[in-house]
Amino acid sequence: MVFVSWETAKEFSGRTAFVTGASRGIGAATAVALARAGVTRVVIHYNSYREGAEATLEAIRAAGAETAAIQADLGEEAGIEACLAALAEVAPEVDLLINNAGSLVRRVSFAEYPSDLFDRVMRLNVKSAWRISQAIAPGMVARRSGVIVFVSSIAARNGGGPGATVYAAAKAAVSAMTKGLARELAPHGVRVNAISPGTVDNDFHRQFSTREMLDRVVAQTPLGRLATNEEMAEVVVFLCSNASRYVIGQTIEVNGGMYMV
Ligand SMILES: NC(=O)c1ccc[n+]([C@@H]2O[C@H](COP(=O)([O-])OP(=O)(O)OC[C@H]3O[C@@H](n4cnc5c(N)ncnc54)[C@H](OP(=O)(O)O)[C@@H]3O)[C@@H](O)[C@H]2O)c1
Repeated sequence: MVFVSWETAKEFSGRTAFVTGASRGIGAATAVALARAGVTRVVIHYNSYREGAEATLEAIRAAGAETAAIQADLGEEAGIEACLAALAEVAPEVDLLINNAGSLVRRVSFAEYPSDLFDRVMRLNVKSAWRISQAIAPGMVARRSGVIVFVSSIAARNGGGPGATVYAAAKAAVSAMTKGLARELAPHGVRVNAISPGTVDNDFHRQFSTREMLDRVVAQTPLGRLATNEEMAEVVVFLCSNASRYVIGQTIEVNGGMYMV
């Protein structure tokens, strides 16, 4: 349940959000949370999970917001360009951009890691977020208003689990991009921040991790459990809101206490 004050609802009224990777997980929870917080239009992106995207659309409508969906594989150059072309049609002005879509794609050891997988992981997690931001930011700058939130990962701090080094490096690039763009865009009234999820109990880890790996994470987590998608979404809503107006260039660790320094 997202706490929505009257002030927040007013502040988000008339705004358009674009959330990538919103067919499930953190992105779906974020898109719905933004709609419940009073954002007027929440445009979502998805890749392969159409039923999930439809469920998100329905939940956004139920929250009283307008919505539309864009399908694109952001791991491919053509998919990134198709996404940008569709977005220009569907929502030429975006006020709140959530660059959430991402994946480690496959766990592969260093010795065997294929060159094309390296490129795909970097395109999906880094380049697509960069290109989408590059397309949307000029409108924000012209209006002197806007928020961009990236989704990094705890992997950016710890180098990633087995076979996830390139994914971790991609997320470290996301955290660095957050700082660079924040510095560049702050004078123009655009705020840029990121969240860095710890381990979220969702499809991501059902796909890439074993029960034993997750149990080890729980044992090391001061809060003693994994996170929920909604716990990530609520921090994103905070970063989109005026309550965080003096927060710039930060990657907020949302990990149950895994890193305290
Ligand atoms: N789960 C965690 O513990 C965790 C921890 C740290 C960071 N993160 C990051 O959080 C973000 C959201 O992940 P999640 O946990 O919500 O994972 P998830 O449940 O697996 O959802 C991933 C989302 O990204 C989309 N996506 C995946 N590959 C794509 C591609 N090639 N092109 C376009 N979209 C693609 C998926 O679309 P379809 O389902 O439609 O294919 C889905 O909407 C990601 O950036 C992830 O790296 C997650």
